[in-house]
Amino acid sequence: MYVTLPGIYAQAEAIDFKIQYYRKLMDSVTAIAHPNIAFIKYWGNREDEFRIPSNGSISMNLSSLETRTSISLDAGLPADQITINGEIAKERDAERIRNFLEIIRRQSGISTYARLSTSNNFPTGSGIASSASGFAALALAGSKAYGLSLNEPALSRLARKGSGSACRSIPAGFVEWLPGKDDTDSFAVSLASPDHWQLVDLVAIVNAGQKKISSTEGHHLASTSPLQSARVMDTDRRLTICREAIMERDLNLLAVIVEQDCLMMHAVMMTSSPALMYWLPATLEVIQAVVHIRSEGIPAFYTIDAGANVHVLTTIEFVPDIEVKLRAIASVSTVLISPAGGPARLVTSDLKF
Ligand code: PMV
Repeated sequence: MYVTLPGIYAQAEAIDFKIQYYRKLMDSVTAIAHPNIAFIKYWGNREDEFRIPSNGSISMNLSSLETRTSISLDAGLPADQITINGEIAKERDAERIRNFLEIIRRQSGISTYARLSTSNNFPTGSGIASSASGFAALALAGSKAYGLSLNEPALSRLARKGSGSACRSIPAGFVEWLPGKDDTDSFAVSLASPDHWQLVDLVAIVNAGQKKISSTEGHHLASTSPLQSARVMDTDRRLTICREAIMERDLNLLAVIVEQDCLMMHAVMMTSSPALMYWLPATLEVIQAVVHIRSEGIPAFYTIDAGANVHVLTTIEFVPDIEVKLRAIASVSTVLISPAGGPARLVTSDLKF
């Protein structure tokens, strides 16, 4: 049998194409991170560029919700190629991600652009901390793809530069962000592992759309509220009670301090110039339902981030009962249920780009 020269070339080309294809896949790095719900909120920066917060905060990672981010470097790219939830990223989101990749590129000394694909299994940008899980997953996948080997505090510091609360999605379980004074000492640490306490977050979705004012813009407004300085000054008291409630697994103690902290943050938002009102009538409806549920002897409490959706927390045995009650509220479109989650982690590379 004869093999023609063009035939050999064609075969060689096909083999080369396959090698390049698999090399790309091998080089791609995928990370998963969970969003977190803040028990003691971060609101306002003492330094904006590096997102050094005005106050410390405490949160719980949410295991059922996740961002999955895959990244590969490609020397042939003229710019970063960014896909979010299967679509080319909008310019505002793309710019924020490119700026973050620049930080990683400067740190690694590698200038190559990247192909990046990220997706959430929950509504994006509606007060369920998609930026927290997003930048935590990106910090981990991106630093690995660019050859950096960062320990947990260093990863947390990096994630913070993308979105403040993202630094809390790097460590596992129940997490405290030590505010620090500058870039070197502002990072998050784990207070307790996810299995420390079977606390569950039921997120009552009353609005799955994107919020109009991002939290980045909101942080800038915090200092315009006359209430912000009192809130910041009182932070150590709230942090101490929250830490104790978590360590002692004391739901009643946690309920009081978390609801107070949430209302203090929203009071600051509502009294900023211009005023920020994230709540909808349905938000208040869920708050009232939670207070009613509690009056029936079922332990539960609420908290709300920069959005209209209400996080309802309870221990695992009360979840079915509370879920039925939340779903019975007409303005609640769905309920996302999540126990405490693990740290940001690398997983086997995805094949999709
Ligand atoms: O990380 P950012 O910039 O999206 O800010 C998060 C702000 C809150 O979610 C409202 C509170 C918090 O501590 O997560």
